[in-house]
Amino acid sequence: MTSNTSLDLHTDPKLFVGKDVYAVAGNPISHSKSPVIHQYFAEQAQQAMHYGRLQPELDDFAKAARSFFAAGGKGMNVTVPFKLDAQVFADQLTNRAQLAGAVNTLWIEDGKIYGDNTDGAGLVRDLLAQGIDIHASRILLLGAGGASRGVISPLLEHSPKCLVIANRSTAKADELVKLFADLAACKEVALESRTLADLENSQKTPHAFDLVINATAAGLTDESPLSELAVTQVFKPGSFAYDMVYGKTTAFMKQALQRGARISDGLGMLVEQAADAFLLWRGLELASKIDPRAVLAKLRS
Ligand code: ATR
Repeated sequence: MTSNTSLDLHTDPKLFVGKDVYAVAGNPISHSKSPVIHQYFAEQAQQAMHYGRLQPELDDFAKAARSFFAAGGKGMNVTVPFKLDAQVFADQLTNRAQLAGAVNTLWIEDGKIYGDNTDGAGLVRDLLAQGIDIHASRILLLGAGGASRGVISPLLEHSPKCLVIANRSTAKADELVKLFADLAACKEVALESRTLADLENSQKTPHAFDLVINATAAGLTDESPLSELAVTQVFKPGSFAYDMVYGKTTAFMKQALQRGARISDGLGMLVEQAADAFLLWRGLELASKIDPRAVLAKLRS
């Protein structure tokens, strides 16, 4: 791809006179459902918006983002692998973007670039919409990378009984426990780390979980982070297994089904994080006119 990528993907704001232009930036990006989601939102709120795709070179996010905003772009969603670049690019971060350590939503106001992270709020809203009671529940969060970090604070805000972060190696999970220890204490949540191997051990994992969230990258290669033995420890009938990946029944989801758990992919989280981006960009009044659950139903139909 060249620096003309924005033109190739029809996202140059100069081409859309009379419309506010937004885009999602990632690499690769052709698979992204964000443009169709935002097109539905724009129709629901009767807004003249264009939402396109940008595929910056891997080391070229800042240049692409700068050109986009300089050409009149109003706001940008950011996905893999640019969420850290977006955090660095923003002049000002919201509190939740700082806590998440990554930015998925950018916008410009008075020449200043703001960065927020709506992923965690999106996950929580999707869980609540699916009838999951986070308060006082036992939650297992698999993975300790960026996707995991982004959802910890919004989960803690709902005061689960415990939140266990499990990763292949302990260092990253321990770091996250340290980072969120104060918030967990304030919300009276037992926040703990485990290795994935610990999940096989009934002494280290004495209780099954109400909610198991897969935030590892394992689903992308059709692997599960859970061994067959771990599966018997962590799930019980009535558990809810949530995979942040969408568009397929992952190995993790199949394991959960075999244990009698309910499952969900991450499409609802994608739609809900987009709804929060719409709110940031267009304001409360217009955001009250969009219906993310109807958009989700359309995407699934
Ligand atoms: P992201 O921003 O998507 O979270 P990341 O920061 O690279 O990406 O983190 C990927 C997470 O998936 C990590 O927790 C990683 O575990 P390690 O820290 O041990 O590398 C986890 N992961 C990736 N592939 C995995 C697999 N096959 N099984 C289990 N965990 C996996």
